[in-house]
Amino acid sequence: MIANDTIVLGIESSCDDTSAAILKGNRILSNVVAGQIIHAKFGGVVPELASRCHQENIIPVVQEALKKAGISIKDIDAIAFTQGPGLMGSLIVGGSFAKAFALAINRPLIPVHHMKAHILAHFIEDANELAPSFPFLCLTVSGGHTQLVKVTSPLEMTILGQTIDDAVGEAFDKAAKMLGLPYPGGPLIDKYALDGDPLRFTFSKPRIEGLNFSFSGVKTSILYFLRDQKLINNNFIEENLADLCASIQHTLIEILLDKVNKACKEHQLTQVAIAGGVSANSYLRSRLKTWGEEKECKVYIPKFEYCTDNAAMIAISGKYLFENGAKPNQQINVDPRLSW
Ligand code: KG4
Ligand code: ZN
Repeated sequence: MIANDTIVLGIESSCDDTSAAILKGNRILSNVVAGQIIHAKFGGVVPELASRCHQENIIPVVQEALKKAGISIKDIDAIAFTQGPGLMGSLIVGGSFAKAFALAINRPLIPVHHMKAHILAHFIEDANELAPSFPFLCLTVSGGHTQLVKVTSPLEMTILGQTIDDAVGEAFDKAAKMLGLPYPGGPLIDKYALDGDPLRFTFSKPRIEGLNFSFSGVKTSILYFLRDQKLINNNFIEENLADLCASIQHTLIEILLDKVNKACKEHQLTQVAIAGGVSANSYLRSRLKTWGEEKECKVYIPKFEYCTDNAAMIAISGKYLFENGAKPNQQINVDPRLSW
């Protein structure tokens, strides 16, 4: 029997954030995230360093989540953790902790798919003013994924289109690196773009049929443009940083919005949600809002803390899976390439 006030501990460690959250019913009591700044100087996540940081952070983060929620270990009814996709070493730390903890306190263990969890974050009580109703389209945009998903129920999700090469978050981070910005560059492009002109520079957009995406061509177009401009003026980037950030961001977000528009038309969907790290992007958020008003489509934009990696989304997914009869599995292993 599952009560409305079931308490779930969520654990997330798929990449470079160690996170633990406590969910009661649909309400988040705590959501603690320990980031890892160590990767900034390497220009990307170093898997070996990420695993080591997770090892250091996992116990303090869980303790902090319990403390903030004002509950004790015995109050936990179930434990949910990220099974994949993600980095093997990172997943193992969270997965092994969750397995051992579930065994020690004799509670069910629920494996969760990281990308589906980004989508289900919308059902956390305070994620939106109102949760989307089914069916809806979700644009899931992160460092490793770019997908258009038709969400028919919490457990029924169909991928309508996805990237055939780089993810949009990767394109943001790689473009930022070309501009000399540290990792992760996505949030910095967003920040500098606030003072720039989005139409000052144009970059070539991909022509991909259907609902799939491609970002490798844009990346090359940015690379060659910067190379050519630097031959003329060595300080080109420094002198035009805000306009460059705004124009790059504009190009990337336009690619996403074109496909959102197409997917809604083709699949007769009138509600659109965004999820994943790139959904924290302020330009995407405002452009999507305007688009929704123009097309009379309802748009769902989650709170910032539920966009980038967090354990609250793992806890809410665990709750839905548990309620819908997913079999708890104490023996389950993490899977870096976990299928959809
Ligand atoms: O979902 P997430 O936290 O981790 C993965 O599962 O990948 O997404 C991380 C990605 C990174 O590429 C980061 O640069 C991007 O999300 N990101 C942003 C912003 N905040 C995070 N990209 C653009 N604008 C932002 N404000
Ligand atoms: Zn993520």
